[in-house]
Amino acid sequence: MSLKDPEIRPRLLAWYDAHRRDLPWRSAPGEAADPYRVWLSEVMLQQTRVETVRPYFERWLQRFPTVDALAAAPLDDVLKAWEGLGYYSRARNFHRAVGLVHQQHGGRVPGDPEAFRALPGVGRYTAGAVMSIAFGREEPVVDGNVRRVFARVVDDADPADELLWSMASALVRGPRPGDVNQSVMELGATVCVPRNPRCGDCPVREFCGAFAAGTQNERPARKKAKPLPHEDTAVPVIERDGRVLLVRRPVTARLGGMWAFPAVIRADGESVSAAAERAGREALGIEIRAGAPVCVVEHTFTHVRATYHAVRCSLVEGDPRALLYDEVAWVRWERVPGYALPVAQRRIAALAAESTLFNGAPAP
Ligand code: ADE
Repeated sequence: MSLKDPEIRPRLLAWYDAHRRDLPWRSAPGEAADPYRVWLSEVMLQQTRVETVRPYFERWLQRFPTVDALAAAPLDDVLKAWEGLGYYSRARNFHRAVGLVHQQHGGRVPGDPEAFRALPGVGRYTAGAVMSIAFGREEPVVDGNVRRVFARVVDDADPADELLWSMASALVRGPRPGDVNQSVMELGATVCVPRNPRCGDCPVREFCGAFAAGTQNERPARKKAKPLPHEDTAVPVIERDGRVLLVRRPVTARLGGMWAFPAVIRADGESVSAAAERAGREALGIEIRAGAPVCVVEHTFTHVRATYHAVRCSLVEGDPRALLYDEVAWVRWERVPGYALPVAQRRIAALAAESTLFNGAPAP
């Protein structure tokens, strides 16, 4: 089985025309797509489901409707608009890349694959998607959905990347390259789904090796998830005069550029209180005293599982300095929601604000 049959492309396109989802970044059939919107959608959709992306995408375009509007916005506002989507390096890179498009390309997204690939955060997938969908270029895409569809077509449990990209390159050649790419992604998202694919609704099942062999549920083989390493973290919540201390994480760190409570990973056998007080000395150059526990929050990142033990701390001596951070700020509790905080930090802030431990925290 293969994608070589000349029937495959027309079948995919006809199916796509009849069944494509109506998504806010898609242009009407036959209309040119706005490259900025397509690019934004493709960046937001990486690692993130369509239904999660939809409201973010709409709000984003109200705030930053064009390349030039986004290029003029401060990173803090950009991260705030991304807050909750995760993988914040996507937002930082997109902001930087759009800044370069504004400066070097007169605000027009380059339609040349090489110039576009040179921008920060633009990999092979994003380049293929934007070049084909927004510019009608015959550039291939392979994402998780495409990989699954192709693995089934060739009935291969673990197809090599180079095979997948060469299949995608062959398929995209011809009319409507952007729609062909999207048809395969769409098929993977709605019909050729990971478990119990709906082969009865598939427009290309007669070209599918796994369908013929009855192996579609085992293609591609699921990789065994490795247990994630665990980070046990102490989080001092330091209050002074109705303000709480927030820090801005270094741009090169995980969650870089985002605001957060200070934190340190606990050493073996170290108590939460001792670790929190150490965070004061090592990260902020201050003496703090740990008091009552505030909450415990769990969060799973791609490569690590984190447990945050938040503890109320009072300032004993010193003025906090951003020794291990980019910035520190004493923030009134009611202003905290205006800062871009990652999900787990937002949860800690909400639980602290609801608790009776903090004088300045507004009542729930
Ligand atoms: N997933 C990511 N981008 C997509 C697109 N353009 N169409 C369908 N699914 C997608």
